[in-house]
Amino acid sequence: MTTIGFIGAGRVARGLAPALHEAGYAVTGIANRSPEPAAELARWIPGCTALPAQEVAERCDLVFLTVPDDSIRTVAQSLQWRAGQSVVHCSGATEVSALDTAKDAGAQTGGFHPLQGFADRTPIAGCTITVEAEEALSRTLDTMVAGLGCRLNRLPPGKRALYHATAGYGAGFINVLLAEIATIWGSWGASEAEMLAAILPMSRNTLDNIERNGIAETMTGPISRGDIGSVRAHLAGLASDPEATAFYRTHARRSVALAEGTGRIDAETAAALRALLRPPSPDAE
Ligand SMILES: NC(=O)c1ccc[n+]([C@@H]2O[C@H](COP(=O)([O-])OP(=O)(O)OC[C@H]3O[C@@H](n4cnc5c(N)ncnc54)[C@H](OP(=O)(O)O)[C@@H]3O)[C@@H](O)[C@H]2O)c1
Repeated sequence: MTTIGFIGAGRVARGLAPALHEAGYAVTGIANRSPEPAAELARWIPGCTALPAQEVAERCDLVFLTVPDDSIRTVAQSLQWRAGQSVVHCSGATEVSALDTAKDAGAQTGGFHPLQGFADRTPIAGCTITVEAEEALSRTLDTMVAGLGCRLNRLPPGKRALYHATAGYGAGFINVLLAEIATIWGSWGASEAEMLAAILPMSRNTLDNIERNGIAETMTGPISRGDIGSVRAHLAGLASDPEATAFYRTHARRSVALAEGTGRIDAETAAALRALLRPPSPDAE
């Protein structure tokens, strides 16, 4: 049976290692820079031992480097790898070439990135995992994704930085959009909780509609209807805050493209909206 090890016993390892054990994988070794997190994680998993990193590298057939992104290359370079084993990192943004030391020693290398925000022991089942690896390792990792109850996504080489930027759009930028709303609602004294209670049902409904019927087709709001007067009113309402206005203009211009693409607004209306939403000077936004 393939033995699995982890180097780095942080948030991802604390979610992934027990989940792999529960899925029937033999997770046998955990290393961490400070010893206690490795010892604690090893205690949760029958048959698993806290070890120095080099011993994990020597004993395990498949090693997850679950250290911070900026340490992946240096940790990989600090260890002796061997032909026949596999070394995988879990970073979305870091290229798989960060593991080239292991590849040069004959190991297979890959990326295994869960599209999930991990806190402590966050469940992994149900999320998507992006796999980038050569064929033999890819087969192993694809099977692992299915065993974890996750959805498989593939990524070609060289795309990780772009891909990971979009993960931010799908998660952290949602926080940014809601923070923008909270600031505006705060201007008439509404609390963040009041705003969220009012807005989130609409947001959830939007996400449900998008999932069922697509992004452009389900877009609502004045731009999707070509209501130029309402957009002019929005800009007037935001006028005292140049940053909020710039934020609105950027998003609204993208909305025009979506609405025009579905044919819901004609070219003339789209041009009028673009003119209204143009930044005051080319460098302004
Ligand atoms: N957290 C997420 O939501 C998430 C989601 C998807 C992917 N990822 C990726 O998963 C990887 C791990 O992230 P994480 O959130 O689990 O990080 P984390 O919670 O900060 O844990 C990193 C662990 O690595 C250990 N470490 C640091 N340098 C080390 C070294 N030289 N040798 C051995 N252990 C070392 C740290 O030990 P100490 O205790 O000594 O500091 C810490 O326990 C990253 O590549 C990240 O991009 C994270």
